[in-house]
Amino acid sequence: MIQKTLFSFIVLVFSYQLSAQKTTPTIKNEADVPSYKLPHLFTSKDGMEIDTSSEWERLRRPEIHSYFANQVYGVVPGQLDFHNVEVLDDEPAALGGKAIRKQVNLNFKKGNKSVSMSLLIYLPAGKKKSPVFLAYNFKGNHSVSPDSAILINGKKESELSGEELKKFNVSGRGGRTSRWAIDKMIDAGYGLVTIDYNNVDPDKNDFSDGIHAIFYKTGQTTPAKNEWGSLSAWAWGMSRIMDFLETEVLVDHKKVILFGHSRLGKTALWAGANDRRFSIVISNNSGCGGAALSRRRFGEKVSDINTNYPHWFAKNFHNFNENETALEVDQHMLIALIAPRPVYVASASQDSWADPKGEFLAAKEASPIYRLYGKKGIVMEKLPPVNTPFHGSVGYHLRKGKHDVTDFDWEQYIKFADQHFQSN
Ligand code: GCU
Repeated sequence: MIQKTLFSFIVLVFSYQLSAQKTTPTIKNEADVPSYKLPHLFTSKDGMEIDTSSEWERLRRPEIHSYFANQVYGVVPGQLDFHNVEVLDDEPAALGGKAIRKQVNLNFKKGNKSVSMSLLIYLPAGKKKSPVFLAYNFKGNHSVSPDSAILINGKKESELSGEELKKFNVSGRGGRTSRWAIDKMIDAGYGLVTIDYNNVDPDKNDFSDGIHAIFYKTGQTTPAKNEWGSLSAWAWGMSRIMDFLETEVLVDHKKVILFGHSRLGKTALWAGANDRRFSIVISNNSGCGGAALSRRRFGEKVSDINTNYPHWFAKNFHNFNENETALEVDQHMLIALIAPRPVYVASASQDSWADPKGEFLAAKEASPIYRLYGKKGIVMEKLPPVNTPFHGSVGYHLRKGKHDVTDFDWEQYIKFADQHFQSN
């Protein structure tokens, strides 16, 4: 009895602490940002000073990467290649004739479990090979364009059950067109490869489905503390799509640009840090756990994100709730892991939850690593005015407006890609 009471008391204290954490007020004014010191990019754990890009590659980069993998996003517990590719659609004259449209399923299998990734691909017609933007979408491939031939989760509307019609929100066809400047991409000579991120791992706090479950050892039901949360699973998915793009003759696989918005911007940065085959990485309004510096605690904090989205990061990351200073990294180091490949961080002026200034500062603080490679990092000291893009090897803009992806953003990304591909 006494033991039981003691146990309930401990549970009570513990849950009180948890709820107290949840209620830490959101910092909305710059004056309330605590003073902080960022961990050093140039000093290795055992105190070695890094002076060259080869020392960075050999000594410091691997330890930072391993820290992010084990303490923040979670390590991928194994390897799995796609089992086969099913071509579902190959239309040479889509979008009024200016694009090729392909739809394929990448199928993964292990034991009695399987996962299918349904890709939608538009490529400029008449080109031998095209650079592409590779990007997850939130609401299904059919949301990115009104094109009625876009399959819904790899199926025709007529093949869907009543339940599937609801689940995949068929009426949302074309509903997110404004976020995908497909015409601009095609006109500029770029393709788009997109897939619903839920295909890889459904975005809910449930580790019984998606790609996690395929990797479990016998008896395992959730990832270990240092193993992958959903962001890491989505990042893994990007690399598997890259495996497929390397086999696709119409795609210039040396020119694959990773793009992601918001949680998928966090994903893009982590995927870009993991896989050097991505030649440019773009994070749009990625905020906490993406481009924004955690130590500023402005807008969304580590404790907020781990409370509201407990499945996104490795369990180990929860140890840093209300305790960012204990982290051996901050998000400028994530951006630095992408060097020397071009990286673009974009913010929106009304998106204070994502801390635009923290996103800018992380891009700026990552820049010295770019300079080690002789590349141009951010040169401005202060957050630039709205709609004033800066395009070095580290790019940045603060778009006027809310948390979103707009034509203005895409115009900058296309220019940025043009600039880098032409100079190489
Ligand atoms: C929430 C979350 C953010 C995330 C965003 C999104 O606002 O707090 O961290 O970036 O959703 O992905 O839309």
